[in-house]
Amino acid sequence: MPGLVVFRVRAHHEPADTSRIPMPAPIALRCQQIQPFHVMELLRRARELEADGRDIVHMEVGEPDFPTPAPIVEAASRFLAGGQVHYTGSLGLPALREAIAGHYRERFGLDVDPRRIAVTPGASGALMLAIAALTDPGDVWQIPDPGYPSNRHFVRAFEGVARAVAVGAETDFQPTPEQVAAAWCDRCRGLMVASPANPTGTLLDNGALARLAETVRARRGVMLVDEIYQGLSYGIEPTTALALGDDLFVVNSFSKYFGMTGWRLGWLVVPAGYERQIEKLAQHFFICASTVAQHAALAAFAPGTREILEARRQEFAERRDLLLPALEALGFGIPARPNGAFYVYADVSRLDDDSEALARRLIEQAGVATTPGLDFGNHWPRRFLRFAYTTARSRLEEGLERIAGSLRSGAGT
Ligand SMILES: Cc1ncc(COP(=O)(O)O)c(C=O)c1O
Repeated sequence: MPGLVVFRVRAHHEPADTSRIPMPAPIALRCQQIQPFHVMELLRRARELEADGRDIVHMEVGEPDFPTPAPIVEAASRFLAGGQVHYTGSLGLPALREAIAGHYRERFGLDVDPRRIAVTPGASGALMLAIAALTDPGDVWQIPDPGYPSNRHFVRAFEGVARAVAVGAETDFQPTPEQVAAAWCDRCRGLMVASPANPTGTLLDNGALARLAETVRARRGVMLVDEIYQGLSYGIEPTTALALGDDLFVVNSFSKYFGMTGWRLGWLVVPAGYERQIEKLAQHFFICASTVAQHAALAAFAPGTREILEARRQEFAERRDLLLPALEALGFGIPARPNGAFYVYADVSRLDDDSEALARRLIEQAGVATTPGLDFGNHWPRRFLRFAYTTARSRLEEGLERIAGSLRSGAGT
């Protein structure tokens, strides 16, 4: 019968191969152009090896290994015990927006009007809202390459164009005003940066950020700064782009510093005048962020929680200080010092001409999972491998030893 499409039912253990399943309707171009996360392939392989009894050292995971701090969990339990788990307003609980504003006051000496703060489902929700609110079809966003992969896909999903700004170690993998000015075009809507950044762990200092903001402002563009790793910096005091003016869009999250990845909670600070537009989008996209997570996060800024989080930051610093010299001793290059987040973006060119091949070899031979540069853009991706120090120091040491063994054996290359 023409037009009849038969779905083949997939056994639950079978990986989806959508290319072979007849689809009832064509997949939208925006979806076809979204790339998968390569690291998920490695993660799948890691899980297979673990199912076969192999021990895998996970250095690919982009989330803290620590549990959510007890005061946050307790606040959630207390709230849940009341059973009144309903929607909140679309921009979030007033008390949480106040608490976030209080955080900016206490930590950075800044007065941010809570009405400018939208509580979102993670930084992901904040990025989506900002890009949806600011992007018309064909609008161009400048995005550093390498960078967090989802940004370009968010831009694509809202019919914008993501223009890669190739960044290298000589500028700490951050764009320069000259690059931004040279790549600017009539359709340019703005520039997105992250500090500290994923995958490189590098930061923009206040001066560099101010110069970028000035360059973008002068062209009537928008500066969107992702501060999701704020608080996770080592030897450098955390800063916020909000100190540079009220005209920036700033993304943040409870995922990383606050150790709440699975709670799905973040926030977006918008310039005055945009609140209503963001609210309308949030109403339809999400209704609201998780109510339980919002009540839990009310405990995130308490002094007791801060103490726990600062001890963890110290632990991350020690892990980084263990990893950097050890990787260099193994022949990896660390051309830009990572002073934040929990990543090391290592140059593998002295060891292999393809970081993806090396990642495969490390997982198969050494049982060490890492993330190849391919996930983060097109600028020398095969030259870099991302190591996440989101596992205990003893495990990092174990991983390093196994990597050394695998590199020594040199087999399988
Ligand atoms: C730079 C950056 N932005 C945004 C996100 C999204 O984080 P979440 O939605 O968990 O807050 C991540 C996650 O790894 C990230 O690295």
